[in-house]
Amino acid sequence: MPVLGVESSAHTLGIGIVDEGRILANEKIMYKIRSGIIPMRVADFHARNSAVLLKRALRKAHVGIDDIEAIGYTKGPGLGPCLRVGQVIARTIAVERGLPLYPVNHAVAHIEVTKHLARFNDPLALYVSGGNSQILAIAGEPFRHYHIYGETFDIGVGNMLDSFAREAGLIPAWGTSVEKAALGGSYIEMPYTVKGMDFAFTGLLTHAAKVLSKNSIKNVAFSLQETAFSMLCEATERALLLTHKKELVVSGGVAQSSRLREMLGMVAKEHNVKFYAAPNEFNSDNGAMIAIVAEKMHNFMDKPGLDECTIEQRYRVDKVKVGWP
Ligand code: FE2
Repeated sequence: MPVLGVESSAHTLGIGIVDEGRILANEKIMYKIRSGIIPMRVADFHARNSAVLLKRALRKAHVGIDDIEAIGYTKGPGLGPCLRVGQVIARTIAVERGLPLYPVNHAVAHIEVTKHLARFNDPLALYVSGGNSQILAIAGEPFRHYHIYGETFDIGVGNMLDSFAREAGLIPAWGTSVEKAALGGSYIEMPYTVKGMDFAFTGLLTHAAKVLSKNSIKNVAFSLQETAFSMLCEATERALLLTHKKELVVSGGVAQSSRLREMLGMVAKEHNVKFYAAPNEFNSDNGAMIAIVAEKMHNFMDKPGLDECTIEQRYRVDKVKVGWP
């Protein structure tokens, strides 16, 4: 029976429907960011579009609301007012229909949808989005969860690329405009900060913004991107060697970068590890990834009480109990 997932943690409202792992619908609508995100305005946008999007998703999946068996929504991390809209949509349908409701962690959903599409069992995951950059894999102690092997000391790689894009007069879009601007560029030296499996991006951002006045956008964008992605690859390679995982995935908004995929593919090949990156529709925020995890929770875990179905702006990925295979 179909499971519905609602994603609303940031500027995208997504509604997905899955049935036994098959993705029947993955509809989304995106608030256009001009200079920065004003959470209340985005939440208002999500609220205004929720009914239309729900109808669109049901139509696409060829199911009626009566066919839905369970509902998932993004509990966090994300922007409070935006998360609240998704939670209210999901909770309202669940209560009205008497359906089980599942709170889903956004980062877990990004990794799980990638793992699901790859048909991998136990990958090491590089999760790269606006606010986050982490290297994760399932660990057993004290409970089964995604352990963070490495992460950014300061900002996420996506926000770093977006801040640079704004400085350079480009459109901020998780690195896609920087990637375009970087084509054919030459390397200028940049600060490189990796400590073990952790990394930091603010020094790199400050330096890149500073040298923009004396160099072409193309060369600075190229050097910034090569340096940031090399840092991520070095830390990921170290985590692969430590964990002995035989599968590697990259997930999240920045996983849409073809250059990052190419570099990680080279790392994986070097160590004889399988590598997968999902199609872009699953790396940008989407409802199908929430439905995928909700279906797994529905099949393998206890049904949470409504009082547990809250929102949490800083919902850490390593706090989530992974009760499915
Ligand atoms: Fe995301």
